[in-house]
Amino acid sequence: MFEPFEYKVIDNFLETQDLKIILNSLNPSEVNKISPNEVKIYKHFFKKGEIKNSSLTKEQVKKLHEKYHSKCISILEELCKEKIKIYDYSEMDIVLTGKNYKFPIHSDSPNKLLSCVIYLDPSENNGTFLYKDSKGNGKFEIKWLKNRALLFSRKENNTWHSYEGNNESTRIVLVYNLMTEQIKKVYEIENKNYYFGIFKTKLSPYLYKYFKVTL
Ligand SMILES: [Fe+2]
Repeated sequence: MFEPFEYKVIDNFLETQDLKIILNSLNPSEVNKISPNEVKIYKHFFKKGEIKNSSLTKEQVKKLHEKYHSKCISILEELCKEKIKIYDYSEMDIVLTGKNYKFPIHSDSPNKLLSCVIYLDPSENNGTFLYKDSKGNGKFEIKWLKNRALLFSRKENNTWHSYEGNNESTRIVLVYNLMTEQIKKVYEIENKNYYFGIFKTKLSPYLYKYFKVTL
């Protein structure tokens, strides 16, 4: 089996009650309103005790963070332990992907230390596609399974991946990322050029907006 970069898959990642809490936080009429080519993100973060919330309450964000943070840190230790010391905060976004929406191949922004996506709903959809390069060679799917988590630690020009709807139903995931604000140190750890990396990061949203490509 071809595996383009190092990652971890953990089934039954969330406790069942937490999976229910997260899904129940969504307003069904808003979920039903997602248009086929739209992506909607309910943004939450936990940053040194400060909480930003959206569909989940602040108390729920705090509890979820307390329950899963150490599990994610120990996975980051396995995947890229040098990055643990530059951890600053956690993102906990619920992402609803319209059935025809496609997000192009990308390697993730440098502020993500550990990317964790947990498949929530429905019971069948597309998983996440991993690739050997930015052109899409060596496509490999981490198949969709309710409450399956895919985790990896991004690396410049390496952790190529994409996601898209299955043309049938809205794809709902929880993204729980360990994040940093110390971007220069990310490039030092990855042994890559900081200034070139920043240039790419700034250019990327425009390339995506106008040409639907990413760097
Ligand atoms: Fe990504």
